[in-house]
Amino acid sequence: MLEKASLEKAKTEVNNAYGKCDILINGAGGNHPLGTTSNPFFQLEDLENTTEGFKSFFDLDPKGIEFTFNLNFLGTLLPTQVFAKDMVGRNGCSVLNISSMNAYTPLTKIPAYSGAKAAVSNFTQWLAVHFSKVGIRVNAIAPGFFLTDQNRALLTNPDGSATQRGEQIIGQTPMGRYGTPQDLVSTVNWLCDDGAAFITGIVVPIDGGFSAYSGV
Ligand SMILES: NC(=O)c1ccc[n+]([C@@H]2O[C@H](COP(=O)([O-])OP(=O)(O)OC[C@H]3O[C@@H](n4cnc5c(N)ncnc54)[C@H](O)[C@@H]3O)[C@@H](O)[C@H]2O)c1
Repeated sequence: MLEKASLEKAKTEVNNAYGKCDILINGAGGNHPLGTTSNPFFQLEDLENTTEGFKSFFDLDPKGIEFTFNLNFLGTLLPTQVFAKDMVGRNGCSVLNISSMNAYTPLTKIPAYSGAKAAVSNFTQWLAVHFSKVGIRVNAIAPGFFLTDQNRALLTNPDGSATQRGEQIIGQTPMGRYGTPQDLVSTVNWLCDDGAAFITGIVVPIDGGFSAYSGV
């Protein structure tokens, strides 16, 4: 996905099987442990902490930051460069990006992922304006919390119970549960359908109320 030659190959296969591409969903994304702090808040004693694997802000590794920005931001831009060529000048085409709650207010511990998703939201607006004259709409969804391979180990213990972070997230989600794939379907269909012909450059939260809740 980050290699243009591989993307071009995928596009050729899609074109051979289905014809020109009308809809692109830039779904791939994720975080990297080297861009993640061990603690939510920096404490004075963190400067002296020599525990194996402990990472304070000062230990964040540029490799982890770069990996995360490349995966989320370049991983949205590069596929669009390849697949949106099919869409230029035709009607009813659209790009859908995947942002995150982190784009609005960053979650603790994950500065790279938060910044990269903020970049995805910003790029969604930029691209919507850029492509507005050639028939391509560009929107995004900002999912709240869905239990997937990306976050399962952070949110659940091996016995299936919630971690402290998992409990915090459910506590901050007024609907009191994680999202399910089904929760995304109608919004994805709506944004990619011609019924949304005058909608471009928006980011839609699908979050069980997370972004509306102050916690009080
Ligand atoms: N799970 C959540 O709570 C949540 C919340 C907000 C946004 N998101 C976003 O939703 C999207 C899907 O994530 P998910 O939660 O299903 O996680 P996931 O880890 O299950 O899926 C991520 C997908 O990205 C693919 N991928 C990663 N690197 C790639 C690469 N270099 N080339 C091609 N494919 C690559 C993986 O193979 C995987 O299929 C991501 O953009 C993620 O950031 C997830």
